Amino acid sequence: MALVSSYELIHKAWEQKKAIPAFNIHNLETIQAVIEGADELKSPVIIQTTPGTLKHAGIEYVAAIVKAAALKYDIPIALHMDHCPSFDTIVNCLRVGYTSVMIDGANCDYADNVELVRSVVKMAHAVNVQVEGEIGKIGGVEDDMFVNEADASFTIPEEAKQFVEDTGIDTLAVAIGTAHGMYKGEPKLDFERIEKIQSMINVPLVLHGASGVPDESVKRAIALGMAKINIATELKNPMAAAIKEVLANPDENDPRNYMGAAREAVKKVVKDKIRLCQTEGFAYEFGVVKK
Ligand code: 13P
Repeated sequence: MALVSSYELIHKAWEQKKAIPAFNIHNLETIQAVIEGADELKSPVIIQTTPGTLKHAGIEYVAAIVKAAALKYDIPIALHMDHCPSFDTIVNCLRVGYTSVMIDGANCDYADNVELVRSVVKMAHAVNVQVEGEIGKIGGVEDDMFVNEADASFTIPEEAKQFVEDTGIDTLAVAIGTAHGMYKGEPKLDFERIEKIQSMINVPLVLHGASGVPDESVKRAIALGMAKINIATELKNPMAAAIKEVLANPDENDPRNYMGAAREAVKKVVKDKIRLCQTEGFAYEFGVVKK
């Protein structure tokens, strides 16, 4: 089917205390791994790109591959732009058919952040595209975005409420103890904070930095209102390991062999994460017919 808006996916998941898994992809094989994994489990899925991925792969290539892949399958697939600080890039995303975007004004002060996010919401909503915003600062590394522990700051519930009201965003990414990249120790999520924020706002929450978070913590966060779970690093690691294993043979030079192995390794994690988000079979609730 054609790409779908993530609005209905996330809202339906939110109502049922599930979450839509959102996977960061980098190339053809990672797109295939995510969509094949989702199709095998009949789960809706969000494919997402960072600005760094667009720089590497090119927005037209990414959009064309994801749209072609979506048409091949009958599960609901959304295409989302992750952590985008640039209004112009968001315009480009809308131009090529992204179905949701995250505008990241984390480097602005509150007033400028609100102004930037509002302008994106106005434009995106005009073409039925959903907008994710972030308040508080999630730590860690993603692309060339690096927030060290000292600069990371937890989301303040009252500020979250104000931010949602001031901007009109559809989903809110919150800083509650997770970070992008892998953790040195076990991450401690502030569940009370999630609960408090969710009790004060009426939009679904988004969990960033889900790689390396224990399954039980992710499940508890979903039960408290996290309806989109972002996963990047936990796909990159098995991909790199699979490629290294194949290339350990010095005579190996066939990209179909090492990238094929990478695709299988990524697909396995994708399926584990779909089960964690409790969306196996959820595609059937979006008009997908059982065969
Ligand atoms: P991880 O790399 O920790 O999975 O974070 C992904 C993410 O939050 C993307 O925005």
